[in-house]
Parts: sequence; C-alpha cells; structure tokens
Amino acid sequence: MALYAYWKKSVIGFLLCILTFAVTKCVSQKVLEVPLLEVGNLWYKSFSTSSIISFFSTFLDFYSIYTYICLTAVCVAMYYLYQLFCVPLNRIRILGDIGYVTEGKFSMKDMANIVQKSRMVGEVPPVYPNGWFGLTESFQLKKSETKNIQVLGLQLALFRDEYGEAHAVDAYCPHLGANFAAGGRVVGDCIECPFHGWQFRGSDGKCTKIPYSENIPEMAKVKSYITKEMNGWIYIWHHAEEGTEPYWMPPEIEEIQSGQWAYGGRSEHYINAHIEEVPENGADVQHLYNVHTPFMTAGIDLRHMWSTVWSFASHVWSAKWEAQKAPNEHIGVLNLTHKLRMFGKTITPINLDVQANQIGPGIVYLEFSSFFGRGVYIQSVTPVEPLVQKVVHNVYIDRRLPTILSKFFMVSEAIQVERDIMIWNNKRYLNKPLFVKSAEDSLLSKHRRWYSQFYSEHSPRLKFQKDTLEW
Ligand code: FES
Ligand SMILES: [Fe+2]
Repeated sequence: MALYAYWKKSVIGFLLCILTFAVTKCVSQKVLEVPLLEVGNLWYKSFSTSSIISFFSTFLDFYSIYTYICLTAVCVAMYYLYQLFCVPLNRIRILGDIGYVTEGKFSMKDMANIVQKSRMVGEVPPVYPNGWFGLTESFQLKKSETKNIQVLGLQLALFRDEYGEAHAVDAYCPHLGANFAAGGRVVGDCIECPFHGWQFRGSDGKCTKIPYSENIPEMAKVKSYITKEMNGWIYIWHHAEEGTEPYWMPPEIEEIQSGQWAYGGRSEHYINAHIEEVPENGADVQHLYNVHTPFMTAGIDLRHMWSTVWSFASHVWSAKWEAQKAPNEHIGVLNLTHKLRMFGKTITPINLDVQANQIGPGIVYLEFSSFFGRGVYIQSVTPVEPLVQKVVHNVYIDRRLPTILSKFFMVSEAIQVERDIMIWNNKRYLNKPLFVKSAEDSLLSKHRRWYSQFYSEHSPRLKFQKDTLEW
C-alpha cells in the first residue's frame, strides 16, 4: 500500500511537471496556436518575458523526452527530501511486524501466532493496573469526531464535542446495544446513537434526548469515564475499585502546554507481554548493556546486532532508578546518561542526559538535555488486551529546531524500544525470579514492590487464554 501511495504521488508530480512546462516558451508557441487554449495563451503572454522562463529555456530542451524524465526525477527527489526534512516521523509496528525469530518458510506473522500460542505465560500480576492511561494523542481526535477505543478490558466511544472537550463513554448504547463509535454523531456536548437517535451527554453519560419520547427514564444513562487532556494526550482514569476518584495527576509539561516545545513525531508499537514488563525495563540497568549497547544501525534483531561491521561504534549507558517518597510515591525516577562512542572516542553532540519519570503504571515522561537543547519523550503504555500493550512514544523539542533532528531522536528511541520488544514478545513473566545478591537485581525487586501499589483487591486477573490468537 505504501509503495502504491508513493507511486501515486510520483505520477501526480510528473503530471504537474508536464502541466507547468507545457505553457512555457517552446511548448506554448506550438500549442497556443489553437485558439481554444485562451487561458494558456494568457499565461504564456504574462510569463513569456519573465526571466525565469528564459533562464530555463536556455539550457532545457522541452522537445526532448529526457527533459521530462529528469524533471520527474527532480520532483520525486524533492518529494522524498520534503518527507525526510519536513514531515514528523510516524513509525507504526503492529504485532507480527517485528520482534520474533523467523524460521524457514515461517513469516514473522506466522511466528508471532506460534509463539503466542505456545509460550508459557506464567503467573502474571493483575492485567489492568490502577492509574491514568493514554487513550490517544490529542491531534488524533478532531472536533466532532468519534473513535472506538479498546483498552483495559473496555470498549469505549471517545469523542470530541463541538466545544472541543474530549469524552469517553461506554461504546454500547443502553437502548438496544448499537455502537456509538460506528456511525454516532456528535451533537453539542452529546453523542447521538446511530440506531434510534438517543443522545447522551459526554460529561456524565445522561440521556438528554429520545426523539420519539418526551419521557426520559432516570436509568437512561451510559457509563462515562474521567478523562484529562494534557501534554498532547487524552488520558483516562482507571481504577478497579468502583467509584475511586483520581488521587494523583500526571504533571503538566510547561514547555508543551506553552508551545515552546513542538511535536516532532511518534512511534507506535504493539507488544505481546504483561504491562509490568515494560516499566520494569526502567529499573533494569544491566539490560542496557546487553540490549542497547550495539550501535543503532546494527538493527533490532538481537541475534545479529553484535555484528563486527558496526563494532566501531557503541552506545554507553549509566543509570540509576529510585522510587519517590510521599506524596509522589506513584512516581519512579530513572536517571540515565547516554554516550555514543566511535573508534574509542566520545561523540559529544550525541550525549544525552535523561530523567525518565515513570508516572503511575502507564505513563513516562523522559526529559532529556542534549547538545541541541532540551526536549521530552512522552511514553504511553496502555493494555488493549490482558497481554497486548499499545506503546506510543512522542517527541517534543524546541520549536526552532529542524524536524530532521526530532526525527533522528525519534528513530533512535524506536530502534532501542524494538530491541526490547524482541525480549518482551518471547519471554515468560517470572513471578519468582532467580535474583542474585547484587545492586542490579535488588533494583528489580524494588521496582516490583513499587509497582504493586497499582494493583488492588478487585484488579482483574488473567483467567484464561484464548484457544486461538490468530489475527
Ligand atoms: S440502540 Fe441506541 S438509540 Fe437505539
Ligand atoms: Fe530497554
């Protein structure tokens, strides 16, 4: 599909190119003899004296096919340069795209299915922790738009009302079960069911209109969830104990809210693992050496990334993780420094000092400072199924810096995450790991104790595994 889209754009570029030059000096002289082309004639006359046309005419032969081939090549090159330098990264990898070991004729997708079915899951903690979770980035939900979102064992209709406020309600209409997100319209601050036109207010879920009845029963209500929009995200509050209001909030990132830092791209990954595996990575300082040392160009396949071809360069990390004290006990902080070494020398402009704040079970703000300035990666980990996580990263940097730089930051981060994915997709969660007496392993125990605060009595547990997980 992507290839088709590029070809389509290339063909459009080519046609535009022909259209433009068809009215320039040499071609126009012939064509404009046909009286019907008056518009072209006017264009020709207005431009025939222009220095630009004469300039091109001196060294371009517009009767030659090669001229058009070259111009098409220039258009295609300009399109790709525009994509590279001006369009923020949007890297999406779904399950089965990466992170498995292919064998013989089995494709990555085949292996994903095989591993999902055969892997020992282990005794995993509850599958949906309590806290704030990212539903979607703000820019993905336009005014009056509705989206069906599957997260945390819920089916939600997420919509942005006509006043710009985002609301999340249960997707199924209490009247006869139609899905609001499959054709529902936004009316004022309500969502209107596509089936019989009942309207429900986003803020509290109350039914405000039944087109064929004056009487609106008290029971006519859809469940509405607490949401908060900040830092370019729409977050939902989820707690297994019914009625528990939020008792902590994600902090606002001043530079994003004020517009000082601009959005610079995103990556989206689907991971087959328990949610806790992802944040546990932050406290796992030893894995930085084993998984994240080889130079980024060595790729994401753990089997091949130690290739000697790329051994002249490597990433060097040092890290320290600690949980915060009350009232910020829901925050874990990882202080990380990154150095790039090439031929034994440190490449200073690539150095990075990172403070990664894990805010609750599913949000991380990684604030970094580099040679080019400060910025932040926003990470969101949200369970879409008990053992499937949607992991999204955004990058924001100083708005005066070029897009190509944020693209570089985003690609570097995505490659490192994709190496972790190969571990997560294939590993088993060990409830009782074999730790040795060491600073490294004791940090992992600390992290597990810290993360357990996000589970409560009624947190849902994994009860069964599907017979088939094919997609
Ligand atoms: S099913 Fe929604 S109004 Fe009837
Ligand atoms: Fe990692």
